[in-house]
Order: sequence, then C-alpha cells, then structure tokens
Amino acid sequence: MTKTIKIIQPDDWHVHLREGEMLKQVTKCTSRVNKRCIAMPNTNIPITTSKLALEYKKIIKENSFNKNFDPLIPCYLTENLKLEDFRLGLEKNIFIGGKLYPTNATTNSEFGVHNIKSIYPVLEIIENKKKVLLVHGEKIRNNIDIFDREKYFIDEDLVKIRHDFPNLKIVLEHVSSSYGVDFVNSNNNIAGTITPHHMMLTKKDVFSNNTINPHHFCMPVVKTENDLISIRNAACNNNSKFFLGTDSAPHHVDQKHPNLSTKAGIFSASISIELYAQIFEEEGCLDKFEKFSSINGPKFYNLPINNNHIILSKEDWEVPNYLEKDEIKIKNFFGGKKLSWKLNEVNYS
Ligand code: NCD
Ligand code: ZN
Repeated sequence: MTKTIKIIQPDDWHVHLREGEMLKQVTKCTSRVNKRCIAMPNTNIPITTSKLALEYKKIIKENSFNKNFDPLIPCYLTENLKLEDFRLGLEKNIFIGGKLYPTNATTNSEFGVHNIKSIYPVLEIIENKKKVLLVHGEKIRNNIDIFDREKYFIDEDLVKIRHDFPNLKIVLEHVSSSYGVDFVNSNNNIAGTITPHHMMLTKKDVFSNNTINPHHFCMPVVKTENDLISIRNAACNNNSKFFLGTDSAPHHVDQKHPNLSTKAGIFSASISIELYAQIFEEEGCLDKFEKFSSINGPKFYNLPINNNHIILSKEDWEVPNYLEKDEIKIKNFFGGKKLSWKLNEVNYS
C-alpha cells in the first residue's frame, strides 16, 4: 500500500505573489495547497494603504485555485505612514499587521524604514490592537558582512523593540541563523517563520568559484551547516514558536544573474509542502509536521485552525525546471531534482 501523510490543510505565513501575469501563475501554486497565506506587501507600488490592500486581496482571490483561499496582507511600513488609515485597516482586518523592511535590505525595500524610532507610533498601534509586527530582520550597513546582518539587526534594533514594546507580537521572518533561533526561543511574544531553503542549503550552494548561483540566492542569505542544523531543530521538534513560511519569491529568469546584481529570491511555491515533508522525514519527525505546517501559525496569529485536510503520498517524481506560461519563466527551486512526496488530495470545502 502507498504510504501517505494526512495533515490539516496548511497556510503559508510568508509568500510573495507579485503582480500582473506573474501573480496569476504563482498564486495558483500557493492556493492549490494552502488555505491562507500572508501575501507580502513589497509589490512595485508597495501596499501602504488599506485601499491598496483591498485591491490586492481582490486580485489574488480572483486568481486563486479555489474560491475559499484567504490572502492576508500586512501593511508595508514606511516612516510617513498615514496612521489613521493604518489604525482603521487593522481594526477592519484589512491588515493582519505591519511588515518592517529595513531600507534597501531586499527586493522593493527602498521605501522601508531607516530609523526604527521613527515608526514607534506605528508599533504602538500594532501593540494596542493586538496585531503582529512582521520583521525582515537584517541590518544593512557597509561594514556589516552579508552573513552577519541578522545578528546585527537583532542586537541593534530587535532587542530595543522587544524592550520598548513588551506586549507587541513579533514574527522574525525567514529565520536564517542559530543566533536568530536562539533569540526567538529566549524571548516572549515572538515567533519565527522557516523556509524550506534555509533548511536545505548552505553558503557553499550559493557561492563557489567566484560566481554565485542566482537560484539559491535570497535574503537573508543561507549560512553555515551549524545554522542549518539549528533551524531544522527549531522546525522539527514540536516547538510552537516556529511555523511554515516559504518566502517563495519568484523573479523572472531574465532577472537572475551569476553575480551580486541578481535579484534575490527563491521560488518554491510549486513544491513547498513536498519539500517540507521531505525535510521532516529526513529528521525522523513526520509526526511533528502538522504542528509546524498547520497549527503553530494560526495559534500565534490568533486565527482558527483550518478544518480541511490534505494528503501527500510517498512517490518519487522529478521537479520540472521551470514554471513557464506565455512570457513568464521562473526557475523552480529543486528543479530537475527528485522529491519523494507528492501532494495527492486536497479537500477545498
Ligand atoms: C524577497 C523578494 O524578492 O520579494 N526576496 C528574498 O530574497 N527573500 C524579499 C524578502 O523576503 O526578503
Ligand atoms: Zn519574503
């Protein structure tokens, strides 16, 4: 008999769905498996108002694989946000929270936050409304090595935010280092999302022979074996503070170059649940998979756990190299490689 895993339908708590034709293709991938997602607001015109958020939600829903798919949107925080609109957007659940991008940390982050103190009124609103601050936790400065950005952000900014807003719920997105895991573990009201690629790749998979592999290049950049082990432990051991967030971040192949001018982002939405299953199996922790994929996230966000289930079956198959349709061509993470789990059945009711 085929071996199967049945889990509560998951949610992707961190994904980039983009705009236009690309949105149409990648939204299908995410909504095929997940019930909800947090669609990141770093679109070309960032989602900084509730009007933009409502429009974005509508477009995503129109392009979803099933009509019950529920995209949640955080507001892209800037230093001159319209506070009243933001407050109302949180009250009306148009925004799930606010996303903090340090200026120039990643794709479309140029309108982000330079001085954390300047958004203290915004943080106060999020804390009072019991919503969530989602953080791209990297400090950008000339003298900070790319591998140390998470550590510096924690030491210089996150510690202060934690101290000044003790009841503010924070998600440290795409935790990429053992330092980040330790910070989440040792503080209250903070959780972390974990991507498949931070549990599968180390810096050797990105940088070699003076070139970079652009399809493995993302922010925060993948780090050492030790960091990878620490992130795997955080995900696979029943720890309620960590949950699924793919950070699937598609870029057209034309935007990917074997040097640092490349766009950062790994596209994994087409195979994300299978990748996570494979990792949990490697760790001998398939029994803990559901907690990570489908329970810890809604609990932290104070949302209901999904009713439906999905079934994955044990089956070897090769991941196609690209997601390709008309003028869209995106490299699939793990393209050309074999996976041993396949999404088999989803009940969309
Ligand atoms: C993301 C993107 O391209 O939007 N890139 C990435 O490398 N992860 C942005 C982000 O989450 O940093
Ligand atoms: Zn992201």
